[in-house]
Amino acid sequence: MLRKSILAAAAMLGLALPAAAETREFRLGLITPPVHVWNQEVAALSETLKERSNGRFSIVAFPSGQLGNEAAMLQQLQTGALDMAWLTSAELTFRVPDMAALHAPFLVSNIDEAAQVLRSDVAREILADLPRATGTVGVCYAMIGMRQMVLRDSIDSADQLAGKRIRITPAPAISTFFEMFGAAPAPMPLPAIYDALANGQIDGLDMDFESIINFRYYEHAPYLLETNHHMFGMVALISGPVWAQLSAEDRALITEATQLHCDRTIDRFVTEEDDKLARLREAPGIRITEDVGPDFFGDIVERWDAEWGAKTPYVQRLRDLVASF
Ligand code: BEZ
Repeated sequence: MLRKSILAAAAMLGLALPAAAETREFRLGLITPPVHVWNQEVAALSETLKERSNGRFSIVAFPSGQLGNEAAMLQQLQTGALDMAWLTSAELTFRVPDMAALHAPFLVSNIDEAAQVLRSDVAREILADLPRATGTVGVCYAMIGMRQMVLRDSIDSADQLAGKRIRITPAPAISTFFEMFGAAPAPMPLPAIYDALANGQIDGLDMDFESIINFRYYEHAPYLLETNHHMFGMVALISGPVWAQLSAEDRALITEATQLHCDRTIDRFVTEEDDKLARLREAPGIRITEDVGPDFFGDIVERWDAEWGAKTPYVQRLRDLVASF
């Protein structure tokens, strides 16, 4: 099914004749630092490709936004200047509005459900629009985990977000969530956050446990609300022009290897999420409020769905899917 949709995607991109078997070191960009789970799985993917291609294929990774922010990497993929990238679902919502549905507030109640959504046929359908909208092939989803709130000051209700500058991953659907409480969302790429927090340019951020640990944001924003307010996906992308040069066998090889490491990434986030929270409980100076559920945010689900459900049918389709779990 996945193979079929990828081949269909290739057809949409206007296939060039596949080149004969060749040796390639694919350039892969990502925004996360070398210590991140994604980067570890990209390194492992390179090994898998080497093994399965008898040494013909490997990957050189460009971490920490070395090639620019995610929007810049997407453009490079489109022209073929970059071969592969692991990008947030948030970035892709600019070109594929249906993907915004993955960021619906409280779509899932825990990370296991998030994994189920990302592995669903409904979510995979959204990937089919990537060739047309971005000139890339979306091989598979992985994830970052659930999103939490990290704040400089303590708050007792969502209304107290009013007037606060909250850093978000650039994406209109995430902006809407914070605007609905009167906050001022500050879209900013991951590598820029720590300094903005240290300089007092932002009052808090929307973030996952993995990055809270990696970047120690609690040093400047010690109040962590365990909200799990939205899930956060990643898409493993291959440049359309690069894809068009590959033979059917090589496409299949790369697709299967990439899928393996998307799956491992998801599995690692699912199994390590509780342990990450436990590690954060031990972090110096941190104050964690656990189990902050949707009630804290009042009628946000209805309000957000009213706005975004009018833009994409996938809001309702994904809510229906989760209701069926
Ligand atoms: C972020 O923009 O918050 C983000 C992006 C990639 C990985 C983790 C976090």
